[in-house]
Amino acid sequence: MPEKDVLALFKLDGRRALVTGGSKGLGEVIATALAQAGADVALASRNKTEVQAAAARIEQGTGRRALSVAADVTKAAEVERMAEEVERLLGPIDILVNNAGINIRGEVAQLKEEDWDAVLAVNLKAPFLAAKRFAPGMCERGWGRVINLGSILSVIAIPGRAPYASAKAGVLNLTRVMALEWAARGVTANAICPGPFATEMNKPLLNDPEKYKAFVAKIPMGRWGELHEIAGAALFLASEASSYVTGSALFVDGGWTAQ
Ligand SMILES: NC(=O)c1ccc[n+]([C@@H]2O[C@H](COP(=O)([O-])OP(=O)(O)OC[C@H]3O[C@@H](n4cnc5c(N)ncnc54)[C@H](OP(=O)(O)O)[C@@H]3O)[C@@H](O)[C@H]2O)c1
Repeated sequence: MPEKDVLALFKLDGRRALVTGGSKGLGEVIATALAQAGADVALASRNKTEVQAAAARIEQGTGRRALSVAADVTKAAEVERMAEEVERLLGPIDILVNNAGINIRGEVAQLKEEDWDAVLAVNLKAPFLAAKRFAPGMCERGWGRVINLGSILSVIAIPGRAPYASAKAGVLNLTRVMALEWAARGVTANAICPGPFATEMNKPLLNDPEKYKAFVAKIPMGRWGELHEIAGAALFLASEASSYVTGSALFVDGGWTAQ
């Protein structure tokens, strides 16, 4: 007989989570899942109205506390301000989900320096800044979860995605370094690597039937992910159920990277 009831290991009662980019898309789904499992949550993104609305939806839908902070997570000073506000209003953060992301598509020859800098800042620098701020407290308390959003583009390449694919490949190795640094302190670091999901980020693909179909053709399951299909992976990695999992990448991609 297992020592512990496995379903109890997925419960997050008494935990506090921060989800960057929690105002919409996968971030809102992840924050909702963590709240459904019992966590109080904080959401951070730049657009104050949107992040407030998402927090209100989560509070209403789950009965847990959900607070919102408007912050640009690419700037250390903003991350510090966000952290102070979240800790003051919610308490110490046990689960950090580095989910904020942007994509600027274009061929290497056409992309501008600012495009590269912007994509690298949100997708790669921001997880570093937030983890740097929150992980020491988790280590001191002896329990923590850092979940970084990678992508199938952490391990495969698609033309026209240089900054994004480079950032997401970096996220994977950043996750592994974090895992090694904190492995003995009760803090895990893992990546979720999604395939295509119909969020705002993918509007250019969703609005182009040819591109949309070309993506579907590459997915063994023959369809895009449905937003709720990210939730189980996030809850697993956020909870005690993943206590012996660190430095790993969980692909939620309909089999794309299995090929
Ligand atoms: N959707 C997919 O198919 C897919 C596939 C693989 C990986 N991913 C990854 O999954 C994560 C979520 O993607 P998504 O598709 O849900 O994206 P989305 O719907 O476009 O949402 C992105 C979120 O990030 C926030 N954000 C962007 N820049 C920010 C900044 N500088 N500071 C704070 N927040 C910022 C946005 O809010 P504001 O604009 O208001 O700041 C928004 O809340 C990303 O890391 C993405 O790369 C997505």
